[in-house]
Amino acid sequence: MSDILPTKVLFVCLGNICRSPTAHGVFEHMVAEQGLSDRIEVDSCGTGHWHVGKAPDRRSTAKASKRGYRMDHLRARQFEPADYDRFDYILAMDKQNLADILGHRPSHYAGKLGLFLDYAEGVTHDEVPDPYYGGANGFNHVLDLVEWACEGLLADIVNARPAQ
Ligand code: 4NP
Repeated sequence: MSDILPTKVLFVCLGNICRSPTAHGVFEHMVAEQGLSDRIEVDSCGTGHWHVGKAPDRRSTAKASKRGYRMDHLRARQFEPADYDRFDYILAMDKQNLADILGHRPSHYAGKLGLFLDYAEGVTHDEVPDPYYGGANGFNHVLDLVEWACEGLLADIVNARPAQ
């Protein structure tokens, strides 16, 4: 048992049914694989309210499942300003998502707030493109970017707080 508080990570997109639940499922998987589930907590949300309570988009779930990630336990929720009190990392999928939550940021917020792909070293994109209105390739592209950024994010968290 660890006596240190877990690091809490929140992924944010627009609907919380495609990109941020994909990041949620992939990161949860990596954290568990590294035996760090008691040290890192993962959540996701959307800036919009339209899909609150819904399971992730089936296209996202199907592509993720082919790579061994589970997302079917996730349900959409909307971002709330109190999330700033709960999370050490708040990572947006695109610049609009980031702009939408920046306005609620309390001046005392000391966590890491920014674009998720800032953690994807060597990747030229700075945003995870919204796949909702596109074809199947978009969902695989989201997974590629998410996997890349999750690796960098995990390294950042572990380096910031090495095991005792
Ligand atoms: P997400 O994708 O932000 O990655 O969950 C979207 C899901 C739904 C909508 C837009 C984007 N929508 O307009 O309903």
